Amino acid sequence: MDAQTPRPGSVALITGGAGGFGRALATRLRDADVRVVLADLDSERNRGVAEELGVGFAVLDVADHAANVAVVAAVEAEHGRLDAAFLNAGIAGSGTTDALDVEEYLRVVGIDLHGVVFGTDAVRPALRRAGGGSIVVTASLAGLSPMPTDQAYSVAKAGAVAFVRSIAPVLHPEGITISTVCPGFADTAIIDPLRDHFAAAEFPVLTADEVAAAMQAAWAGADPGAAYVVQPGVGAVPYRFKGVPAAKNAAGESARIPGALQGPL
Ligand SMILES: NC(=O)c1ccc[n+]([C@@H]2O[C@H](COP(=O)([O-])OP(=O)(O)OC[C@H]3O[C@@H](n4cnc5c(N)ncnc54)[C@H](O)[C@@H]3O)[C@@H](O)[C@H]2O)c1
Repeated sequence: MDAQTPRPGSVALITGGAGGFGRALATRLRDADVRVVLADLDSERNRGVAEELGVGFAVLDVADHAANVAVVAAVEAEHGRLDAAFLNAGIAGSGTTDALDVEEYLRVVGIDLHGVVFGTDAVRPALRRAGGGSIVVTASLAGLSPMPTDQAYSVAKAGAVAFVRSIAPVLHPEGITISTVCPGFADTAIIDPLRDHFAAAEFPVLTADEVAAAMQAAWAGADPGAAYVVQPGVGAVPYRFKGVPAAKNAAGESARIPGALQGPL
């Protein structure tokens, strides 16, 4: 996946855009003359990030489907089109291991997984109207390698990876490429509770810009449904899914899945 420069004048929406990755990506895209809109929870701080970067801001709670639809309508009304959506908003669980916190589980899955589903549904018609485009979902390494300290986050991110793999063949004929970026630990506010552990273990963490570079590259260069792992010292590499054994027919040969279940790709 090569880092490619997006077409100047194109329009990108970044959810969770006022956070670490969003800010780093917005800086890159703004410098490439992309019109950027950060969508994030309403706060002085979040509005201030957009103001400081000189990009647009839209209030959005990604866990609210109707709000996703309204933000896309507002972006199209202001900019006339939408070319790329970075579905990046996310929170982690508290890391408590002695009991499952069901309320917290529902909150994390509501944002990290349902937010991706709602966002995809909301941006799809706009990307079609633009003649095609990209959706890049920020999942996590936890979506490929579950964390024993955060079941909610692991489920939500694995769900996001599965959702993207499942819908990619459906969106592809519409000219929409959807993919995930799956970073390891990176230097943003989300790792604040873990920072001392990384420092003590001299464990390397990614910079936000290393992840933003992978997100930018995925806009123009991703394969449909691909998951790109980003790790310190490794860069962005496609994850190879192992696949599953095929069913055997009565003759002991590998059976072909019925055409109706194969999707349009
Ligand atoms: N930093 C890491 O180590 C790491 C690793 C893998 C994946 N990720 C993922 O990357 C994404 C971006 O995280 P980050 O590292 O920049 O952290 P961050 O905490 O700096 O940014 C997250 C942003 O999401 C926003 N947000 C939270 N809930 C929201 C909601 N309901 N609606 C809209 N926005 C909401 C926050 O306000 C914040 O601006 C997240 O999905 C996170 O899970 C982070």
